[in-house]
Amino acid sequence: MGRSIPDGFVLGAATSAFQIEGAADRRGETIWDRFIRVRGLPDTGLVACDHVDRLDEDLDLMAELGLQAYRFSVAWARVLPEGHGRPDAAGLGFYDRLVDGLLERGIVPWLTLYHWDLPQALDDVGGWRVRDTVGRFTDYAALMVGRLGDRVPNWITHNEPWVASMLGHRDGVFAPGGTDMGEALTVAHHLLVSHGTAAQAIRAAAPAARVAAAIDCRPAVPATDREEDVVATRHFDGFRNRWFLDPLFGHGYPDDMVDAYRTAGRFDARPGGDGPVRDGDLDLIAQPLDVLGLNYYTGIRISAGREEDETPDVAPGPNPPEGHTEMGWPVQPDVLHGFLLRLQRDYAPASIMITENGASFSDGPDAEGRVHDVRRTAYLHDHLAAAIDAREAGVPVEGHLTWSLLDNLEWTQGFAQRFGVIHVDHTTQRRTVKDSGWWLRDAIASRTLPDVPGPSAGA
Ligand code: FCB
Repeated sequence: MGRSIPDGFVLGAATSAFQIEGAADRRGETIWDRFIRVRGLPDTGLVACDHVDRLDEDLDLMAELGLQAYRFSVAWARVLPEGHGRPDAAGLGFYDRLVDGLLERGIVPWLTLYHWDLPQALDDVGGWRVRDTVGRFTDYAALMVGRLGDRVPNWITHNEPWVASMLGHRDGVFAPGGTDMGEALTVAHHLLVSHGTAAQAIRAAAPAARVAAAIDCRPAVPATDREEDVVATRHFDGFRNRWFLDPLFGHGYPDDMVDAYRTAGRFDARPGGDGPVRDGDLDLIAQPLDVLGLNYYTGIRISAGREEDETPDVAPGPNPPEGHTEMGWPVQPDVLHGFLLRLQRDYAPASIMITENGASFSDGPDAEGRVHDVRRTAYLHDHLAAAIDAREAGVPVEGHLTWSLLDNLEWTQGFAQRFGVIHVDHTTQRRTVKDSGWWLRDAIASRTLPDVPGPSAGA
């Protein structure tokens, strides 16, 4: 017998629009369509998992697994092809059908408004680099809550603002491909302010709705106990985690990072200073947060010289070394446990939902059509156990959403990474529930974490 799952702890799965929907010809262009084309990356976004045209099949699969909750994102450019103006009736209709289909099957919707797919038309006039986009996003949030606020109880404004700002505007490796730290910090600020203004719009239209943000955290430990590694780790934590968590919880931008960025001439975070931060912005960002969404995959060891660098030590690819996933990320459930305790200590959130957690392994169907993805099952088992331990230690963890429901389009890596508990054959679009999916079903049905045969992913 595995350990029991506490009453009220919710299990489900997560996806995002660009990564699964397809039907790109029935929505406006996004910055990801453009980026993939311009960079000559694998052009898989047009069809992705063909989810728009396979909605009923995918909803039935969710019901077959017994999912209690499902997190999806709305493609802004499907409901507003230019990012503003007249809504597209068919686009809105798709999300109506998705939400109604979930509710009919007893699955609680968690809607993300922004999972990185900015309408290209808005980027053409400055994107997140300009303040106007905050207003556009707020209007889009109001449109969606007006349409779905009667049926969707959980509203996630943004997904991973660190990735959207830093990988998209500092490192140039994600859309729209900018390479300037000052610009990236401006983008991060506009994302945070728009979280606050959208939260207000959501509450105005649907007072009972719960507002969340999904923050990707990368817990860091010093590589050695040498002073310079400890200092570098503190900086990394400020750059990666505190820059977003502190203002969301009303602490303002962290002083040490404000000073570091200003001294280096990269960003002025003082309200009314030389940067984009206006008086009142920090109050806007600090709207009451009903749920902190935590996206957690792995931690990192930091040494001096790597205080703003999270390149994994292991390159992504098949056959990763023991204890790593195919993203090259170390498997560290204990780090999740420790980080949940820290969130509680530093921020005391009203509630935490693990809005993403999962593992990339490319196991495919065997001759009998079964997918024996034991490493993913072990990963899920060990991270769920860590989350439940934290809950039992007093952290208000309300549940866990596995990334991901389906093998999908992993951004710049195309279909090379497989995170799904359901295998997708990207030629035929055939879906096959993996062993990890059946394990999740058994966990939900039995309210226990069944023991996992064989090696642990974290061994
Ligand atoms: C997260 C993203 C998600 C997916 C996973 C693997 O950073 O939110 O879309 O790509 O990583």
